[in-house]
Amino acid sequence: MCGIVGYVGPRDCSDVLVSALTKLEYRGYDSAGIAVFENGKIEVAKSKGRLTDLVAKMEKEGKPSGHAGIGHTRWATHGEPSDVNSHPHSGRRVTIVHNGIIENYKQIKKFLIDNDRTEFLSDTDTEIVAQLLDYYYDGNPVRCIRKVLHEIRGSFALGIVFADRPETVYAVRCESPLIVGQGMGEAFIASDVPAIIKYTKDYYLLEYGEIAVLKNGSASFCNLHGRMIEKELKTADFDEDSAEKGGFEHFMIKEIHEQPTAVKTTITPRIEDGMPNLSECGITPETLKSFKNIFIVACGTAMHAGMVGKYVIEKLARVSVTVDIASEFRYRDPLLNEDDLVIIISQSGETADSKAVLNLAKEKGAKTLAVVNVKGSSIARESDMVIYTHAGPEIAVASTKAYMVQLSVMYLLAFEMAYAKGRIDEKECRRLTAELVKTPEIIERAISLEYNCQYISTKLITADSLLYIGRGLDYALSMEGSLKLKEVSYIHSESYAAGELKHGTISLITEGMPVIAVATQTSLLEKTVSNIKEVKARGAMTIVICDEAAEFDNDAADYTIRIPKISEVLMPMIATVPMQLLAYYTSVNKGNDVDKPRNLAKSVTVE
Ligand code: G6P
Repeated sequence: MCGIVGYVGPRDCSDVLVSALTKLEYRGYDSAGIAVFENGKIEVAKSKGRLTDLVAKMEKEGKPSGHAGIGHTRWATHGEPSDVNSHPHSGRRVTIVHNGIIENYKQIKKFLIDNDRTEFLSDTDTEIVAQLLDYYYDGNPVRCIRKVLHEIRGSFALGIVFADRPETVYAVRCESPLIVGQGMGEAFIASDVPAIIKYTKDYYLLEYGEIAVLKNGSASFCNLHGRMIEKELKTADFDEDSAEKGGFEHFMIKEIHEQPTAVKTTITPRIEDGMPNLSECGITPETLKSFKNIFIVACGTAMHAGMVGKYVIEKLARVSVTVDIASEFRYRDPLLNEDDLVIIISQSGETADSKAVLNLAKEKGAKTLAVVNVKGSSIARESDMVIYTHAGPEIAVASTKAYMVQLSVMYLLAFEMAYAKGRIDEKECRRLTAELVKTPEIIERAISLEYNCQYISTKLITADSLLYIGRGLDYALSMEGSLKLKEVSYIHSESYAAGELKHGTISLITEGMPVIAVATQTSLLEKTVSNIKEVKARGAMTIVICDEAAEFDNDAADYTIRIPKISEVLMPMIATVPMQLLAYYTSVNKGNDVDKPRNLAKSVTVE
């Protein structure tokens, strides 16, 4: 949540900050602001609303002009989105931007008030930190930052400028991600690499408690104890194009189209001689055989990938898999021990609740495996084993390609585990793997149904509420279809196990209410069709997503989306596509901001 940036170098600082913030808006977009040294003085510009509102304000009122500064795009936690609550926040001599939360800000505020510091303008926890920094500031910025770090609790990253240290930017990381970019004679800070990729691919990853000082176009580092440290310079493995729309109208549709490549890039290095091979991720057949229970824990879309994983791993490897929402799992005192495997799925690798589950699993002695997209993220670094998904940067808040590659990894794991445990023989393992290898091409064919989905989406735009139904794997999948649709179209949507409908939910069906049935599992088709007929008989408008060869009564469906066929167990990877397209086009047809749906943020680094 929230994105922070900073710059020191020869370019126009305001322009660099705004450009970098544009790439971080996925982290929050209810207000934005910058602070820049102009003629040795800190000038602040900030505004409620999108970054474009800030830009418009600066066009009208003038933008700060200089070569060093910090910037912020916000997802409100403390205090409503407003001009005054927007970052940067200042004490008398210190101005900061902040990503994350300060848990003990109330105690600190009391301490400040007790010590005659009463000038608070905003409702934010951030301003308290600015004031505390100012309170302790004795002319030595690093010493002051270290002192404050010992007093504040929470998960945060800060960008800081001190009024008497012009042309210098300080940054510190405690939990929330922060990188320091190094260009030719210029240096950057950012919450994520895509923010600065336009300027440089070289960056340092700040670790917990590390402080960076950006001055004269380069960065130096020290740790929490004030000791200078050398850091390894990393190079991003993607370029500017991957963080741009590349001719598409929105990132979401671009990312839907990128799925065949993303799957191919993710699975190819993990298949050797026709068999799954996860050894490069530190996973051997022996490891996979050793677990009694598997827990898959994640949030949002990533948790839905885990739902599909459960069905597939249980079906093929015959191991019990529990899937849970990270924010629930962490507080329910789960039964975990050394014989268990906890799989954390996360696109960002920074989600606060998922991180907490990782720590809990480690405390209980369980083995941990991260399935993560962002290289070097906290969850990836702190897990025993990691399988990176290679989706490249995902910018749209609604996750599409990251989900798809998470599914592909669930399959690789299930196949290798089933084989290692002797539940499937080599021939079957090769057959399934060969089918997985075919998925990029078949996903491509499913994407070509775009116009059909676009047309059907016009039937959804007037709905207030709809249902997604399915059985088995189709039910697991419909959870994601429903979430995708509601997050970008703002139509209330629920996913329901088709067979469970008549135990209550069917009472919601009224004339014309859309019901989208996912029916890709041949063995369950007949039963799902009966449920479709039941809702149709009560007035529902039915849309059926099924394979191109599925046979059922024509009158069950008002609209049908027939997708290319593959082995039944892999059908979720194909059926996902029309669900994404339906969500995308419904949102576009309603005129919503599809890449930045209201109230959401892509990276949720607070509880
Ligand atoms: C947010 C995003 C979702 C995402 C979830 C988990 O809610 O909007 O798209 O699925 O966080 O994020 P993660 O980075 O852990 O996959």
